[in-house]
Amino acid sequence: MAFPAERPRRLRATPVLRALARETTLKVSDLVMPFFVRPGQGIKKPIVSMPGQFQFSPDALVHAAGEAQAAGIPAVLLFGIPKKKDARGSGAYAKDGIVQQAARLLKSRFPKLLVIADLCFCEYTDHGHCGIVKPDGVIDNDATLKLAAQTAVAQAEAGCDVIAPSGMMDGQVSAIRKALDSSGHEMTPILAYAVKYASAFYGPFRDAAESPPKFGDRSTHQMDPANIREALREAALDVAEGADMIMVKPALPCLDVLAAVRNQSTVPVAAYCVSGEYSMLKAAAANGWLDEKRAVLESLIAIKRAGADFIVTYHAGEAARWLA
Ligand code: PBG
Repeated sequence: MAFPAERPRRLRATPVLRALARETTLKVSDLVMPFFVRPGQGIKKPIVSMPGQFQFSPDALVHAAGEAQAAGIPAVLLFGIPKKKDARGSGAYAKDGIVQQAARLLKSRFPKLLVIADLCFCEYTDHGHCGIVKPDGVIDNDATLKLAAQTAVAQAEAGCDVIAPSGMMDGQVSAIRKALDSSGHEMTPILAYAVKYASAFYGPFRDAAESPPKFGDRSTHQMDPANIREALREAALDVAEGADMIMVKPALPCLDVLAAVRNQSTVPVAAYCVSGEYSMLKAAAANGWLDEKRAVLESLIAIKRAGADFIVTYHAGEAARWLA
């Protein structure tokens, strides 16, 4: 008898055999493209810490989102940078807030493009925190929920197809669900950032959204990266509160969490491959240290293999081209 008897290499011998044996696939329809929108006209301002990413004015966003849709990307996730920030983040829930303006325009031009609205206050508050801050510096959970509810309704009214609360306030999903239901938006799904760690990998995003906290950090509401049981609890809570889909964030540093959440949940599970993950690969590629295409596609397939049903990623535009 030949030795060894088991030869896993047999199925690696040709591209055809490898394709037949492949367990996980990555498709352009798995990808959600995040965009940053700011007031103005004709603006496409490069984000220095995220090469290849931009802040767009709504008219310029139409062009970029149109290209994304033409490349097969089914959905975009919108972040807003308001004209003026204030203590209560009023730009988030204003009827003519920047995300609301952009959503109206996008939906009028591309009715089939799924527009997901990120819902948080850190981009809208002058102190850069994710909610109302009490005089003692603590974030007021329940006061923030009221504004979150208002924001969700404003976003749904502007045509946003999915509301994605990312503030990690307790009870935010049920507060938003109630507000949507009582304003005629009972069919608007919630994609909850259920498991969101206080991660250093959001660094470039804070540049992009002009949202770094002016004092303190986010570790009283975002999760400790050391914890996984807590992640399962957060995921279960959000589903119990009515989340239609849940998200784990960041992605590559949390593949174990993603797999565990996937095993425990029957709702769709998304992963957010965040700004720092993007910029790391961009920086390494720019130096010639990594093959960008291979490194990006390997990262994205690993995120799917770990259990993501879809992936929010700044690589979406380029990945769409590579997958075509
Ligand atoms: C909150 C929010 C953040 C990100 C998405 N939503 C920033 C934060 O929590 O500090 C980070 C995304 C990224 O790094 O790409 N509005």
